[in-house]
Amino acid sequence: MTEAPWWTSAVVYQVYPRSFADSDGDGIGDLGGITARLDHLARLGVDVVWLSPVYASPQADNGYDISDYQAVDPVFGTLEDFDRLLAEVHARGMKLVMDLVVNHTSDEHPWFAESRSSRDNPKRDWYWWRPARDGFGPGEPGAEPTNWESFFSGPAWTLDEATGEYYLHLFDRKQPDLNWENPEVRQAVHAMMRWWLDRGVDGFRMDVINLISKDPALPDGAPTGRGALGDGFPHYGTGPRIHEFLQEMHREVFEGRGGGLLTVGEMPGVTWEQARLFTDPARRELDMVFQFEHVSLDHGPGGKFDPKPLGLRDLKASLGHWQTALADTGWNSLYWNNHDQPRVVSRFGDDGEHWRESATALATVLHLHRGTPYVYQGEELGMTNAPFASIEDMHDVESLNHYRQAVAAGAEPEAVLRGLRAMGRDNARTPVQWDASHAAGFTTGTPWMPVNPNHTWLNAQAQYDDPESVFHHYRQLIELRHTHPVVALGDFRMLLPDDPHVYAYQRTLEGTRLLVVANLSGQERIATVEGDWSPTDLVLSNVESVHTKDDHITLQPWAAHVFLRQ
Ligand code: NOJ
Repeated sequence: MTEAPWWTSAVVYQVYPRSFADSDGDGIGDLGGITARLDHLARLGVDVVWLSPVYASPQADNGYDISDYQAVDPVFGTLEDFDRLLAEVHARGMKLVMDLVVNHTSDEHPWFAESRSSRDNPKRDWYWWRPARDGFGPGEPGAEPTNWESFFSGPAWTLDEATGEYYLHLFDRKQPDLNWENPEVRQAVHAMMRWWLDRGVDGFRMDVINLISKDPALPDGAPTGRGALGDGFPHYGTGPRIHEFLQEMHREVFEGRGGGLLTVGEMPGVTWEQARLFTDPARRELDMVFQFEHVSLDHGPGGKFDPKPLGLRDLKASLGHWQTALADTGWNSLYWNNHDQPRVVSRFGDDGEHWRESATALATVLHLHRGTPYVYQGEELGMTNAPFASIEDMHDVESLNHYRQAVAAGAEPEAVLRGLRAMGRDNARTPVQWDASHAAGFTTGTPWMPVNPNHTWLNAQAQYDDPESVFHHYRQLIELRHTHPVVALGDFRMLLPDDPHVYAYQRTLEGTRLLVVANLSGQERIATVEGDWSPTDLVLSNVESVHTKDDHITLQPWAAHVFLRQ
């Protein structure tokens, strides 16, 4: 058997630079701020830092709209600041992975400026340009070349008045999609990636990478029920040439650079069958992917902003299925949170009475699955959703576009706000709560987004010296993965799949067995699990006492226990 890759026992920590730590008092997080706080990450014990985009950008989507891939945005610092951060990360034995956003650029990228300058510009074909639909004049209602809806509301096409054609943008109109059919585009992206690897970075998290291959025929999609818009996903999601493009990228960028790098593809709508292909090592595409099934289970009939309560049985069925599907071939990424998801303790836990227990129970359940766990900044402190009073408090382009469109279509503003408060991405983007001071230690100035008022008690400083804290629980989970090969490599078996409150599973590796049992509810429960586990087998728990009798384990509200027998 070949040795398991290093990332099977690694934990990744995501930094969203704008909201992590500010070093110059302008109220926006920056590279200097991250460097200054690296000991927080070292103390937590993570292996890899994934840095959300710091490239030059007009910041229409907080950096996911890039105008120069080989420059650092002045708001975050300079390339020298970047090199210093990289060196300091490496000095602490950690790795640094960059965000790679190449499904689209900013409309202010010089490539797009050239492309839009005339219909016969040599870079015209670097993006998706199409004339108005047959029988329509440019700008007429319904003239968009396809009926596709953008992820950020409204049509996925915008008319460029100067040349009279439309360009495709699956996201905001300031994020035109690159045309990966054009080999020059692919070569330019590969060269840019090599440049960062030569600089010393340790890999890439690839933004919506399963959207880069579109069906060039650009067919209309089935109606979405929102005006005349249609769902284009079948024509660009995991499209016809995606595997070819990723294999080519692997050859052109990663081959010959050794096994120390990490590649993870963000893939909305990816199925487990597809994920297995993407992550089968023999196919040389990606190490792992982010799938979205488990974070879509609470979306209601009206979509993401119409949430419904999570059914625990659905969650177990979903995550359990992914465990089985990628057991022999491929690899899972494990996450509750990132900069696009509301805070898990508010979403699936209890951010009131059982805040600490529910944050640690959810962490326990996630981290001991087979796969590579990702911790999003502040998650290790149990940070919660923010109390947004009105739409004026929100910043995210997705939320603002949705609000505008929904209200224009006749929705009740307060009802739209309810959805945004529960599910909006801004929940993940309030500044990290370092201490109890006025701006939570995030900045000496005025933070670009208000700090959550609960920072007076919910902050890193308050948790460092508290062995029961959410921070120390995460630290111990990470340590378990580092210490026990059964966590990284053991087989997975879901227990009690039909129990609506208890999440339990067993991991086994040769003679070692690990049992995770967690009560994800606010009432006491009894779990019956095979094997006579006793409190002496306990290696981690988030409550003080553990009661076992024969095969019964009594679980206090949100109690989570980890038993190990070698
Ligand atoms: C996924 C990123 O995570 C999200 O933040 C961004 O808005 C879209 N891709 C577009 O880049």
